[in-house]
Amino acid sequence: MPKVPAFHIFPSAKAASTALADEISQLIRSREAEERPTVLGLATGNTPIQLYAELVRLHEEGLSFRNVVTFNLDEYIGVSRENPESYWQFMHSHLFNRIDIVPENIHIPESTVLSENLESYCSSYEDQITEAGGIDLQVLGIGRNGHIGFNEPGASPEVATHATELNSVTIDDAAQAFGGATQVPRRAITMGVKTILGARRITLLAFGTGKAGIVERALNPGITAEVPATYLQSHHDTTFFLDQEAGAQL
Ligand code: PGA
Repeated sequence: MPKVPAFHIFPSAKAASTALADEISQLIRSREAEERPTVLGLATGNTPIQLYAELVRLHEEGLSFRNVVTFNLDEYIGVSRENPESYWQFMHSHLFNRIDIVPENIHIPESTVLSENLESYCSSYEDQITEAGGIDLQVLGIGRNGHIGFNEPGASPEVATHATELNSVTIDDAAQAFGGATQVPRRAITMGVKTILGARRITLLAFGTGKAGIVERALNPGITAEVPATYLQSHHDTTFFLDQEAGAQL
């Protein structure tokens, strides 16, 4: 049965990240014991950086990612892999280059697909998730406007991976990294809300005062397209991992 997401407020972002890394490491180990791969859905942004640092640390202590398959939530359209702001670069520098994941098991939406091929590309991304057995555990952040992935306010819960337009709040939040709002890509490929809700378990990280208001809205009972994170209220196993500041209004 769907239920409003659980939440845990940790003393710090590091403590929350460590708790989620521990959960992921237990999942990987238990599935490995069953000789099954673990399929992770992964997020980018400032929020998961400490989670990835902790997973790298656990790898250095012996956790292997050779049986892990990953699917990233999203990527800017038109930003090549070589671009330092690409999510491809982000994932490789924070995680993939530092663990023993098999490169063929890494999936990040391809940002340079020609526009006439976008639809078939997005549907093939979905097919790959299905062929991998579906996502065991999805990691999410949350935008100040309540987006999850690039599912911006107004997003439908019925849509799977697709190309979308970035919302103005999202563009403003990315402006510094790109050297000004005019430099921020306007479009992205993102897993849809439907894809995200298809994960067996969903975890959402949110840290800092700037996220307190939107976290409160996301957990306030009532689903609205204006706050896409409220769609998580229709999922049966979602947990928010918060620091004190992000949980201050709960
Ligand atoms: P942030 O982004 O981690 O950089 O705050 C979160 C998001 O937009 O999902």
